[in-house]
Amino acid sequence: GGVTTIDPGYKNTGSCESAITFLDGEKGILRYRGYSIEELAEKADFLEVAFLLIFGELPNKAQLDKFHDDIKKNSIVDEDVHKILDAFPKSAHPMGVLSSLTSALTAFNPSCVNVDSEEDMYQSVVRLLGKFPVLVAWTMRKKSGLPLDYGDKNLGYVENILKMMFKEPNEEYTQSKILVNALDKLLILHADHEQNCSTSTVRIVGSSHAGLFASISAGISALWGPLHGGANQAVLEMLEGIKADGGDTKKYMAKAKDKEDPFRLMGFGHRVYKNFDPRAKIIKVAADEVLGDLGVEDPILDIAKGLEKEALEDPYFVDRKLYPNVDFYSGIIYRGMGIPTDMFTVMFALGRLPGWIAQWREMRLKKEPIGRPRQLYVGETLRGFKPLEER
Ligand code: CMC
Repeated sequence: GGVTTIDPGYKNTGSCESAITFLDGEKGILRYRGYSIEELAEKADFLEVAFLLIFGELPNKAQLDKFHDDIKKNSIVDEDVHKILDAFPKSAHPMGVLSSLTSALTAFNPSCVNVDSEEDMYQSVVRLLGKFPVLVAWTMRKKSGLPLDYGDKNLGYVENILKMMFKEPNEEYTQSKILVNALDKLLILHADHEQNCSTSTVRIVGSSHAGLFASISAGISALWGPLHGGANQAVLEMLEGIKADGGDTKKYMAKAKDKEDPFRLMGFGHRVYKNFDPRAKIIKVAADEVLGDLGVEDPILDIAKGLEKEALEDPYFVDRKLYPNVDFYSGIIYRGMGIPTDMFTVMFALGRLPGWIAQWREMRLKKEPIGRPRQLYVGETLRGFKPLEER
């Protein structure tokens, strides 16, 4: 039989049982495996959180060291992947490049497609966690024309990412504790968010038993859109636009409320959070701290704060329960850290990677069936074929 009801955008459809992330949109609660996002952002580092999300418990020292070692051992990317990267124009958007390179990993690691055991899964996971930051860094270096760089095995996971991104040729790279802490925090805040668009994509692609890398590549494409992860780039471009236009936030508020105008206030609103986004609260404080620590004064931060204040007092936003989301202030921090605007969504992908992996692994371990929604057909009923010359 056919279906009788539909739920566009799956606003009220649960697709799975999951033990990974708890989210209460009314109360603004977000927990990974039972730990509050506030506590994790304050006390944990990103690799610990990745382990927690994927395997369900915080690692002890030995477990974390082994995990990190396995990741490092698997961080070499085949030299031929350079050739694929080289074929892209410099103007290519980094998200398109990253999704292509991630997809290409399947070709270079064919043994990772079949995951018949937990050990097979583990091999795919550590390979991806090892190689993905390399692809992220290469994507950024390609754009800026810098020679590609491998990291340093003696560095922490996040330290190494920063080095791979920023090391200049012929220069000693000195680690900045401020940047490491800021990136750790941002990546943790983005690490999982239950069944959002990209995560549902990863699960549904993975449910056909396509391998992990193909599933993640699809998730990256889903994340790219401006209604999802692409919002962090769109927010900064919007704030820049407002600044260039004389800083008149009221004009943009009016545009956002005008139903004839497609403009939306980027970084505002959320499918699930209807009182506040707990990640946005942490990031707003972090933006002040990090920019202060780095000695960066960014007029964009003032525009963002002004816009937030106006929106929070405006009946249009109040009635629709629209609050700043995780993407509203994150770009300001990334920019302060020296990361180019079109790399912001790539940074989101880097943070979301452990969540995607955890959800894919959970789905495979539970042997979930192939994802295959139904529809309500509203097209033509049966009609006869007309030859071309009679149409
Ligand atoms: N600016 C102006 N109006 C908005 C906005 C906005 N940012 N967001 C929602 N609305 C209005 C929308 O027009 C609708 O109004 P009405 O009831 O009069 O038709 C109402 O609020 C409900 O919106 P919706 O589009 O039905 O809500 P949704 O759950 O389908 O969409 C959303 C959620 C996040 C896609 C949406 O709020 C949005 O487009 N926000 C801007 C993009 C953004 O910041 N995305 C990042 C989301 S958080 C991190 C992530 O997922 O990556």
